[in-house]
This record gives sequence, structure tokens and C-alpha cells, in this order.
Amino acid sequence: MSSRTDGSDVIPTQKLAAEVLAVVESSSLSAKSALREYFEDVDIDYRVRGSVHAYVFEVLKRRNFIDFILEKALGFRNLKSINPFLINLLKIGIYEMYFKSVPPPLATDSAVRIAKEVSPRAASFVNAILRNAENVDVDEELEKIKKRSRRKYIALKYFHPEWYVRIAEKITSDYEKLLMSNLSQTAYIRVNTLLSSEEKAVRRLERQEVVLEETPLPEVFRVVSYVKPLTILDGYDRDFVIQDLASCLVSIAVNPEPADVIVDLASAPGSKTSHLAALMENRGRIIAVDSSKERIERMKVRLKRLGVRNVECTVYDGTKFRYLAEKVLLDAPCSSTGSVRSHPSIKWRYSPKKLQALLKLQRNMLRNSAKIADEVIYSTCSITFEENEENLMKLNGIFEVKKLNLPVGMPGIRKYGRKVFDRAERVVRLYPHIHNTSGFFISRLSVKS
Ligand SMILES: C[S@@+](CC[C@H](N)C(=O)[O-])C[C@H]1O[C@@H](n2cnc3c(N)ncnc32)[C@H](O)[C@@H]1O
Repeated sequence: MSSRTDGSDVIPTQKLAAEVLAVVESSSLSAKSALREYFEDVDIDYRVRGSVHAYVFEVLKRRNFIDFILEKALGFRNLKSINPFLINLLKIGIYEMYFKSVPPPLATDSAVRIAKEVSPRAASFVNAILRNAENVDVDEELEKIKKRSRRKYIALKYFHPEWYVRIAEKITSDYEKLLMSNLSQTAYIRVNTLLSSEEKAVRRLERQEVVLEETPLPEVFRVVSYVKPLTILDGYDRDFVIQDLASCLVSIAVNPEPADVIVDLASAPGSKTSHLAALMENRGRIIAVDSSKERIERMKVRLKRLGVRNVECTVYDGTKFRYLAEKVLLDAPCSSTGSVRSHPSIKWRYSPKKLQALLKLQRNMLRNSAKIADEVIYSTCSITFEENEENLMKLNGIFEVKKLNLPVGMPGIRKYGRKVFDRAERVVRLYPHIHNTSGFFISRLSVKS
């Protein structure tokens, strides 16, 4: 382990983080999956692991701003022409100087030492670029941008792509608060009542120095603080799962009876399926469908670990799957624009060009749901009007929107430009800046006869 010139042993963190970031950028893996795969075969102290995790997430969250400074420091914009490891090492150096209050010479020194392991040329390149980065007059550059385009400025200020700012502006006048709230992360755990009780699971977590706070759902707790990463704690994905409060509300909205047959039409990785199984006390039957074989395989392993016994998993296209059931849960594939808090890469991977194809898929899955059961719970982790209220407007001929009462949330969007959704009071939305959860939309539909 090398150390900084001030004696602190932190260099491996930056090196590991640069390697993980390079993997995230060159693959379709989420930061969480990349970190999980990276640490699978290596024995690294949990403190270093936690620190690498934080670096990866904090750099990813601010990608546009860091790239902006990097482009100024490089003097050109084609970041793809540079070795991915070095580019991410540079990004980490910039993150340290601008957001971690690390004195710039110290941040540069750390990055240069790591780059030396690549080659002396790489080290002098990193040194030159980070010295340029120190001297970028960010305030002046931002002022120039603000004069040209306020949206571009807001996008840089709150670390979001412009298309996201546009969506946020359209759905709420408090869009700056929403963007800001997307930058902080709140973890929730759900007790897996199939294998533990609230009391036992909470006691076990508290013994492992996790501080929890109650939520309106008895089996769900907000994580106030922790010492070791939750994923390495005793009981993880057995006594408790990490699941956002908004996501937990979806299974509550399904309100299953223990003897019900429920089709979960887009089910992997099974967070809501396992919650439904727990609410049904492993009775009745859940048919868990997903079009991804790989996700279904992983889900099967997970459900077994969680003690779930009333689920049949099926790889099938949810627009075509047929069955007869009491209820369908359609937690649809979506833009995931509500999940950027816990999955910051979505901000840089999703493109609004994908929206039309997603809307078509969501509507086809909704149409098919109406052939499976008379009651459908439709949810997304998207904040857009189109994927939520507007989908229900378009399918007005098939579905009646029923009033949904949940202990957390607020009505949907009634007015969107010239479009009016007159059943907004019946559906539920959750927002990061209001409910301290992921952004979610939840609705209860009954099939018109
Ligand atoms: C939002 S995720 C579901 C999350 C899941 N309900 C949970 O709580 O863990 C959407 C899922 O839809 C699946 N999907 C995408 N297209 C599909 C299709 N045509 N039929 C069925 N599933 C599909 C994806 O593979 C993905 O697993």
C-alpha cells in the first residue's frame, strides 16, 4: 500500500475506484453490480470497500460536472480517446479537489503515484492535466454558461443531464429541490418476515451498529446510520433486504389475500415478489414472469435464500403471457428516472429517444394484464407523466382507475401542459424531495367489462 505525502493510507481506494468506474463505463453493469462483481473474489477490508463504494457513487453522480472540468483541463472533448483507467483516475482527482476538500496538490500527488504504476508517461500526463484542472476558473465558466442557457447551467449545478432537467421542470415547480434531493441517498430495509420477525431482525441489526428509524410500514425501517456496509452484515438478504420504502408500498397496494393467485408480470430481481410472498405468508400462488432469463435465474437463487416457497418463476414475454389470476402486479420496465438516487448511472445511460419504445411496451403489457385478471396494480420507478398518468389516459377504454389509499405519497399529476388527468386524486406518487424515497408511481386499475 502506498501512502500520500501527508502519510494517510488512502491510495488503494482511488485505484480500485478508477478500475470499477472503468468497468461501469465500458459495460452495461450498474455501479452496484460492478462493485459486487469486483469484490466477489478479493478479500478487502470493509472500510476500503466502503470508501471505494463512496468514491464510485460520488464520481458517477457528478459525472457531467467532472467531465466539464476535465475537458477544460485537457483542452479537448473526446474523452474516449484516452485509456479508461487514466480517465477515471483523473476524474477521481478532480472529484477530490472540487468536492472532497482534498488540497489540489495532494489529490494530484495521489493520482500521479497510481499512474506511475501504468507508465512514467502516464504519470506525467496525469500530473499535467490535474495541474490544469486545479486552475480552471469554475465560477467564471459557469457564469458564461448561465448567460447562454439557464437549463445547461442548472444541469451542471445539480449534476443531471439536460433532458432530466427538462422532465423535472415539466412535472414540478420545485424541480431544483427534486434535482438536489436526487443527490442524497436514503437506505431502507424491509424485514423478511418469512425468516425473521421485526423485533429479531431489528435487534440483530442494532447489535451490528445500524441505527434504524420506523416508517409507516411496520416491516420497513429507514437506515439512519451504519458502520459496516449493509450488504456484508449478518442477516443481509435473509432476515432483511435493502428495499426503498416506495418500492415496498407497491406490494402493499396489491393487498394480497393469502389464498390469491397473483401474476407478477415484470418480476426480476424479485424485491416485490418476495414482499408479496411474505404478505401472503407463503400461501396462495405467485407466478413471477420476466423476459430476462439471466435475471430470472438470479431471482430464483435469491427467493430460495429468502425462504420464499409460493412462487413459480417463468421466463416469458409479459406482452404475451396468459394465465388466470385474481390480480396482476405490473411493475413495468421504465425510464427509471425515479431511481437515479441509488442508480446514478441511469442519468448518463438513459436517453429520451428510448421513451416511445418504452411507452409502447408498457401499454402492451397493460393491455395483456387486462386479459389475466380483473385487477391490476400498475407501478413504475419513473417520474415522467407519459409513462404514468398518460398511459392510464390512453388506456381509459380498458381500465377504470380505482382510488388507492396508501400511508405515504401524494396524488398524481393533474395538469401537464394542455393534458388533464382528471383521476389524479386516485393514484399515488412519491418524490425524493418530498417523501425521501425513490420517485415512484402506483395505481390500482380494474378492468372495465
Ligand atoms: C422495474 S424492473 C422489475 C423490478 C421488480 N418488480 C422488483 O421489484 O424487483 C422491470 C423488469 O421488466 C423486465 N422486462 C422487460 N421487458 C419485459 C417483457 N417484455 N416482459 C416481461 N418482463 C420484461 C426486465 O427484465 C426487468 O426485470
